[in-house]
Amino acid sequence: MAYPYRHEKETPMLSRGFGDPRTRTLEGWKELGGYTALEKALSGSREDVIEEVKASGLRGRGGAGFPTGVKWSFMPKEKKGPHYLCCNADESEPGTFKDRELLRWTPHQVIEGCLIAAYAMQAEHVYIYCRGEFFEATQILARAVEEAYEAGLIGTNILGTGADIELTVVAGAGAYICGEETALMNSLEGRRGLPRVKPPFPAAVGAFGRPTTINNVETLASVPHIINRGGAWYRGFGTEKSPGTKLFCVSGHVRRPGNYELPLGFPMMELINDVCGGLLPGRTLKAVIPGGSSVPIMSAEDCQTCTLDYEGVVECGSMLGCASVIVMDDTTNIVKQVRRMVDFYAHESCGQCTPCREGTQWLSRILVRIENGKGTEEDLDTLLELGDQMTGTTICVLSDSAAAPVASSIEKFRDDYLALIRRGERVGAA
Ligand SMILES: Cc1cc2nc3c(=O)[nH]c(=O)nc-3n(C[C@H](O)[C@H](O)[C@H](O)COP(=O)(O)O)c2cc1C
Repeated sequence: MAYPYRHEKETPMLSRGFGDPRTRTLEGWKELGGYTALEKALSGSREDVIEEVKASGLRGRGGAGFPTGVKWSFMPKEKKGPHYLCCNADESEPGTFKDRELLRWTPHQVIEGCLIAAYAMQAEHVYIYCRGEFFEATQILARAVEEAYEAGLIGTNILGTGADIELTVVAGAGAYICGEETALMNSLEGRRGLPRVKPPFPAAVGAFGRPTTINNVETLASVPHIINRGGAWYRGFGTEKSPGTKLFCVSGHVRRPGNYELPLGFPMMELINDVCGGLLPGRTLKAVIPGGSSVPIMSAEDCQTCTLDYEGVVECGSMLGCASVIVMDDTTNIVKQVRRMVDFYAHESCGQCTPCREGTQWLSRILVRIENGKGTEEDLDTLLELGDQMTGTTICVLSDSAAAPVASSIEKFRDDYLALIRRGERVGAA
């Protein structure tokens, strides 16, 4: 088969230290060429670093896929006070488990990426905001930060270049909403994790009222490789519009779930059947959620020609999000799964915006009713109308995220809903 992506057969970059405890140490990371990218970046200009990242076409791995180099260039060129960088390690999207692995196995990869990014944006302080439950990962990261400080890689006059960058690891309290960049900044400042209205955007008014950039862990971990080997080399992986490799978190009904680093543009069915060993014997594919629970659900038919890049997944009716591929076979009760996701969003809603606070609870109540065989066909119309009113009407997109699986599952799996409504039948058990 001719693949729609380019793939040099090289060892993975981001995950090459996974499973090897030596890469947790400064010495082990240096054996793999660690911190040479930082040295290279610091010996050139800030603009050069931004241009290289722009040339690589790297897109943010936190979900939206915004071009990283372009985002960095939004920071003020003239520094009139502190600038900050926040590394978003809040990772709480159901189905997503990549950032914690980057932190657990390759903390120095993340630190190095943070330092390069901070240098490029003149950020004098980096905050790595970790999800509260990531106790082990946070401890490993904190040890690596200590080691890097002792080696003169963080702090004042880094590697004798005159660059001063401090780095602090911050543990959140375990709230999904604190992964949203403006809620993260509020939490960092010691306030409740409530999203802020934009504009002003963080590059103008961010943490502590100062210009700030927020990047995902995987985005920042990709940066040392781009600086070391060049943007053009990075473009040797992936597709024209979605360059590079990406960690795919595969969960659900496959034989070998896990994190897999693959070039963007990799065919979804090949990921499921070849990389993950396929479904259990006798099972057939029913549905896939390709990007974490907040993106539209896909039917088995949608998946057949889908390639896993930002554009490919949109063409097939969903979004790549953070590339968390949740696979569901024919034993799945779609209504139950959607209800569980909606319950998650209802629990995690910060309650600031009425459509989200009330809407997520309302969606959940209707879905429970249908699941218990007590729903009506009008309930489906109400779910869709509610979802409509919850989309694009709130400060952040948590509300949209709750509505997406509901609307798409009614569109793609209406018969499952109708079976429960008309005959009180359960469709699938899982
Ligand atoms: C409710 C909500 C939760 C989010 N959670 C995360 C998260 O845990 N990690 C993350 O990197 N981005 C998360 N995001 C996206 C961030 O707001 C932000 O776009 C991202 O960190 C930017 O990084 P990137 O440009 O490197 O992708 C979340 C967004 C929303 C609306």
